[in-house]
Amino acid sequence: MIRESQESDLEEVFNLIYSAFGNKAESDLVKQLMLDKDLFFSLVYESPDAILGNVVVSKMAMKPVTNLLIGGVAPLSVLPKSQSAGIGAQLMRAAITKSRGMKLDALFLLGDPNYYGRFNFKVSNLANDYSSEYFQALELTKDCLVDVKSKVIYANAFASL
Ligand SMILES: CC(C)(COP(=O)(O)OP(=O)(O)OC[C@H]1O[C@@H](n2cnc3c(N)ncnc32)[C@H](O)[C@@H]1OP(=O)(O)O)[C@@H](O)C(=O)NCCC(=O)NCCS
Repeated sequence: MIRESQESDLEEVFNLIYSAFGNKAESDLVKQLMLDKDLFFSLVYESPDAILGNVVVSKMAMKPVTNLLIGGVAPLSVLPKSQSAGIGAQLMRAAITKSRGMKLDALFLLGDPNYYGRFNFKVSNLANDYSSEYFQALELTKDCLVDVKSKVIYANAFASL
């Protein structure tokens, strides 16, 4: 089942992120996002025995400012032994549904377009600090990004990634 992450999950979630990525950068990122109060939400996929997956959506900004409410999906992590079983996809769909419920206008992420294309993310040409072919956006409010000229800014915690 997928549910919101709770305080009591934190250690297990940090260990999960560490084992998915093989280094501490991503778990440190989530810790800093929490300290900075820059999280929109964190969801976990829980089996009867353990937490197997996690997805985090954090606050983003645009410069110059717009009236759009936007979030960054990162990190998405699934325990190595539980990968390729659809857990990542279920977490992504739940994150998209929750973001719609919270009235976010768009989500952004950095990742393989072959994977995230299946959730309708599209490579974005908006300016950002990573500016790569891996920077993608999903409009939750139809066409909300069409006329945007602003730069998309990740939360401060990403600067140390
Ligand atoms: C990426 C990740 C979250 C996907 O979760 P998952 O539960 O394994 O994914 P799903 O079961 O929904 O989908 C599996 C498919 O995703 C694709 N996929 C998995 N990992 C991928 C990756 N790192 N890059 C591109 N495609 C990937 C493959 O096509 C895979 O198909 P397969 O089952 O034929 O191998 C998970 O593999 C993971 O935690 N990886 C390590 C951390 C990471 O790289 N996170 C993403 C950062 S953008």
